[in-house]
Amino acid sequence: MSFQDEIAALGREAEAALRGAGSLAELLALKARFLGRKGGLAGLLKQLPTLPPPERGPAGRLANEVKERLERLAAEQETAFQGAERADRLLRERTDVTLPGRRPPLGRLHPVTQVAREIQGVFLRLGFDVVEGPDVELDAYNFEALNIPRDHPARDMQDTLYVTDEVLLRTHTSPVQIRTMEKHPPPVKIICPGRVYRADAVDPTHSPMFHQIEGLMVDRGVTMAHLKGVLTLFAHEVFGLETGVRFKPSFFPFVEPGAEVGIRCVICGGQGCRVCKQTGWLEVLGAGMVHPQVFRNVGYDPEEVTGFAFGMGVERIAMLKYGIDDIRLFFENDVRFLEQF
Ligand code: FA5
Repeated sequence: MSFQDEIAALGREAEAALRGAGSLAELLALKARFLGRKGGLAGLLKQLPTLPPPERGPAGRLANEVKERLERLAAEQETAFQGAERADRLLRERTDVTLPGRRPPLGRLHPVTQVAREIQGVFLRLGFDVVEGPDVELDAYNFEALNIPRDHPARDMQDTLYVTDEVLLRTHTSPVQIRTMEKHPPPVKIICPGRVYRADAVDPTHSPMFHQIEGLMVDRGVTMAHLKGVLTLFAHEVFGLETGVRFKPSFFPFVEPGAEVGIRCVICGGQGCRVCKQTGWLEVLGAGMVHPQVFRNVGYDPEEVTGFAFGMGVERIAMLKYGIDDIRLFFENDVRFLEQF
């Protein structure tokens, strides 16, 4: 085979191979194999100087022709592959602007926070101010000033978590009453929301940490009738206008008289059921007229002013409002539960 025939044969072989390339990578490999610096064509051209001088010119021209043709073909193929790949990528990455957007996951307020805010809203509209106190409290404020001395049996009503002999985790929000009256002369009209702690055994209605909202109104001439009016309005706002409200005598050392306030059972409507233990009523808060001794403890004159106070458990109210039968659901923070509020 003459040298020119060899070049032509290589040209045909390379052309067929380039046309048959199945991918860009294969094409580039073929290009290197035939047209690269160490490729087939370059190998042939190296032999050019060994040819007899008259053959060198035509052989060189043919080699150049073949080289140009193959380079053109390779470039065309490369463009075609790149075009196809781009089209393919565009198809894959296509954005369908008609699809509905993905909703970003939105957080929401915890149901206990929602109910606490709703309750506070009722009292804010009645002109009460919001006051907060510390979670870590002095025995003196949590008990002594509230007319519960150390040996008083009422201390057993609230199982206390002590930090030291004199320091404890407050068992109720009532010490905020004392802190407020100590600082401000009457009249006082406040609510005090916050966390409280008790060493209670955990069960469907007891949690070692829960929330209370305290209320206190002190002025000249405040009576039980004011207490009844305010708490009845509160019950109607939170549980509905049809809700029956009951005041029952009860005992708390810091009020006299004391009352337990109940609403008609929201589950059975008063017929009697498991939730209300067949009584038709659900206790929702403790209340009463501020004890004269409490006034004396903060330097108020019980002959001059009178007042009412109340304290409610926010989780218990949220449970009644939403028909939740286990307080622990509020603290497990399972989003499937929380999402429903
Ligand atoms: C008190 O804590 C009084 N300080 C309330 C008060 C204030 C009376 C002002 C008079 C004047 P009691 O211990 O009953 O009272 O608690 C009040 C409410 O807290 C209860 O009605 C109940 O709803 C809630 N509660 C009590 N213990 C727990 C607990 N372990 N888990 C969840 N809620 C509780």
